[in-house]
Amino acid sequence: MSLSKSLCAFILFTILSFVASDTPADCRYDDIRGEWTFYEGPRTFDKNYNCSAFANFTQKFKVNLLFPNTATDEDGNVGYWTMIYNQGFELVIGGRKYFAFSYFRQEGDNVTSFCKHTFVNSSHDVGVDPKNWSCFVGSKEDNPLYPTPYAKSSTLKFSKINAHTFYRKNLDFIESINRKQKSWKARHYDFMEKMTIGDLIRMSGGKKTIGFQKPKPTQVIPEIENMLKDLPDSFDWRNVSGINYVSPIRTQQTCGSCYAFASLAMHEARLRIYTNNSDQTIFSTQDIVECSRYSQGCDGGFPYLVAGKYAEDYGLVDENCNPYKGIDGKCHTDPKCFRHYATKYRYIGGFYGACNEALMRISLVKNGPIAVSFEVYPDFRFYESGIYHHTGLEDKLNFRFDPFEITNHVVVIVGYGSENGQDYWIVKNSWGTGWGEKGFFRIRRGNDECSIESIAMEADIIVDN
Ligand SMILES: *[C@@H]1O[C@H](CO)[C@@H](O)[C@H](O)[C@H]1NC(C)=O
Ligand SMILES: *[C@@H]1O[C@H](CO)[C@@H](O)[C@H](O)[C@H]1NC(C)=O
Ligand SMILES: *[C@@H]1O[C@H](CO)[C@@H](O)[C@H](O)[C@H]1NC(C)=O
Ligand SMILES: *[C@@H]1O[C@H](CO)[C@@H](O)[C@H](O)[C@H]1NC(C)=O
Ligand SMILES: *[C@@H]1O[C@H](CO)[C@@H](O)[C@H](O)[C@H]1NC(C)=O
Ligand SMILES: *[C@@H]1O[C@H](CO)[C@@H](O)[C@H](O)[C@H]1NC(C)=O
Ligand SMILES: *[C@@H]1O[C@H](CO)[C@@H](O)[C@H](O)[C@H]1NC(C)=O
Repeated sequence: MSLSKSLCAFILFTILSFVASDTPADCRYDDIRGEWTFYEGPRTFDKNYNCSAFANFTQKFKVNLLFPNTATDEDGNVGYWTMIYNQGFELVIGGRKYFAFSYFRQEGDNVTSFCKHTFVNSSHDVGVDPKNWSCFVGSKEDNPLYPTPYAKSSTLKFSKINAHTFYRKNLDFIESINRKQKSWKARHYDFMEKMTIGDLIRMSGGKKTIGFQKPKPTQVIPEIENMLKDLPDSFDWRNVSGINYVSPIRTQQTCGSCYAFASLAMHEARLRIYTNNSDQTIFSTQDIVECSRYSQGCDGGFPYLVAGKYAEDYGLVDENCNPYKGIDGKCHTDPKCFRHYATKYRYIGGFYGACNEALMRISLVKNGPIAVSFEVYPDFRFYESGIYHHTGLEDKLNFRFDPFEITNHVVVIVGYGSENGQDYWIVKNSWGTGWGEKGFFRIRRGNDECSIESIAMEADIIVDN
């Protein structure tokens, strides 16, 4: 009796509609850590193979995901792993890389995560443009052949929003921000009146699951404290001895593609830094929106999986190969376009949950701009200038059903400094040059403002000769 045959029932059972959005799964570190059984098929596929309906599993083995990021397997291999936000995990062991989204089901606004199971996703050899792809599925249950009922980890709801109504100009809200504090200034932007509340939410990272807290920054160890002494008090990749290494500001429009813009902006700047500005490639964000399996198009994604995993596995193409349209669609990228790869993608600190401000500054100065996500509250959208911090004020006119609607926006840190005793980050946004300080903003640094110091990531773009 072959393993593959008996697993069929299990797999067929799991093929359910996978609803696009930053996946709505909500799995935590303690759900994922521990012993898993992996079921894997032959390692003979290429990167374009679709594992969704795969069921021919031919090997079974156990892996143990240990605290904080070590992993072991039955053959005595030692590897490492990381959570990817609350969506899934990636494991590197025995010369192979395994990545899977956590399993969930969605019915309307009700989402149930089954964190002890993954979808059938893929594995491949370690390396850039990797080979020997296979399909695998993971389960933490003792008997994965009869997984009904799945062990529920959590059931949650998405907040209800008035997504289809147009944003209404709210000068009272803007005045109240400007009255309450002097650190930053707010203004009204005309372009927002052409957007619905749903567009505004997508533009700032998309809905996030209620109640999910990002990890807190970690303690700064003495060795890192020492390294900080060598860093300048202020630094700006837009002006390093008069030279700008940051590519131009772009506009994502109403598509929830901030993660693609931030991921590629990090690589554009790093390519300029590594080549002394001689390679000024602009990368195609439309390719990410249309073609990446590691993200959800205009419904969101994560820089770890785009600047990192997609860039290492599939590579990035130039903007003119697939120019930005700002809408979802099937993949139009010409396979003949030249691909730029990146490698060594990592959460700053080494794994999800190990970040802090000191490590971020060290990476920024040493390696180049870094991708971060942070929580966008309604006041942020009206930032004009100064050092942003969340005021706690609500835009009751527009977000009356859910004043605390917050989203998870992705941007790129390009520098840091201090003004009047307040430390700040300099951040590149993707809302056009007419927004903020010519498309950039500054935000409080050192207190994890809006969780901006919790999950920074970076990757190294490979310079082609
Ligand atoms: C399952 O995989 C084995 C091993 O590679 C292969 O010989 C067999 O043809 C596959 N079966 C199906 C139905 O694809
Ligand atoms: C993982 O599996 C789900 C369900 O089949 C699929 O929708 C998704 O695209 C897969 N992701 C990857 C990266 O293979
Ligand atoms: C993979 O196949 C499933 C059906 O098995 C399909 O729904 C899905 O769209 C396919 N994904 C891609 C990226 O082609
Ligand atoms: C969602 O869950 C609630 C109870 O929590 C239930 O009343 C409702 O019918 C569910 N909706 C769907 C679409 O399953
Ligand atoms: C696939 O893996 C085998 C070992 O299992 C190796 O010999 C072979 O070179 C790999 N193929 C490629 C294209 O890297
Ligand atoms: C760059 O920085 C130098 C020194 O701080 C300053 O004098 C110069 O005006 C800046 N250049 C630009 C283009 O901002
Ligand atoms: C970098 O480019 C600048 C301006 O083109 C040039 O003056 C400088 O010599 C270059 N530096 C190196 C290390 O090539």
